[in-house]
Amino acid sequence: MNADADGHSGAAVPVQSREGSPVAADFVPSALGTREHWDAVYERELRTFQEYGDTGEIWFGEESMNRLIRWLQKHKIPSDASVLDIGTGNGVFLVELVKHGFSNITGIDYSPSAIKLSASILEKEGLSNINLKVEDFLSLSTKLSGFHVCVDKGTFDAISLNPDNAVEKRKQYVKSLSRVLEVKGFFLITSCNWTKAELLDVFSEGFELFEELPTPKFSFGGMDVLHLQENAYRTSREDKHRAR
Ligand SMILES: C[S@@+](CC[C@H](N)C(=O)[O-])C[C@H]1O[C@@H](n2cnc3c(N)ncnc32)[C@H](O)[C@@H]1O
Repeated sequence: MNADADGHSGAAVPVQSREGSPVAADFVPSALGTREHWDAVYERELRTFQEYGDTGEIWFGEESMNRLIRWLQKHKIPSDASVLDIGTGNGVFLVELVKHGFSNITGIDYSPSAIKLSASILEKEGLSNINLKVEDFLSLSTKLSGFHVCVDKGTFDAISLNPDNAVEKRKQYVKSLSRVLEVKGFFLITSCNWTKAELLDVFSEGFELFEELPTPKFSFGGMDVLHLQENAYRTSREDKHRAR
């Protein structure tokens, strides 16, 4: 989570060498992995929205949203399919989904300020039929389940930077995903911190790679500075173990 797809640099997070076996080593913990950080970010963005009407940062840029929507259209995901945006932030992706005809949409975020900002943006857009909830994806309090599509744009990246036992949190993420996604459901993830092989390893339990979306590569001085992973996964078995 060092830069978005437009090349804007976010908070630079140095990563340790992760050569060798996937996810053997770990990221250097960062404030980007904490709720306090995101609360502060979205409180600030909420004030900016109230004062200037600016919706704030779109993680990985508009192109990432467009790629995901195109993917949903290409795979003929029905417009009434239930879609969950995990860690929706300012909820701008929810707005895009509605604009493209999707009608059964839920956005969750563990930051109350993010949900307030999303609600304000949706209200300004005149969109009322979207479920918004303050929810920690790692400790789901309500009966969120049966989603046909789950989308994660930068949230798994953020969770992976949590200073408090990120390895356990990633495992919990996979369990929560297993719980909310219906059998044969799709999971779309956009990440700038993980390689394809690493994501495959993390989601090997219960999910299989369905398609790798083509993403842009940004180089500087001959070195890759950003290579987004945008992958579609599908639950792998009808009888797969479903975490409780
Ligand atoms: C990098 S931002 C991406 C926001 C949004 N998906 C987007 O594309 O603009 C990460 C988001 O994940 C949320 N988040 C992080 N950990 C979470 C968790 N455990 N449960 C729910 N939301 C979480 C943060 O509050 C933040 O809104």
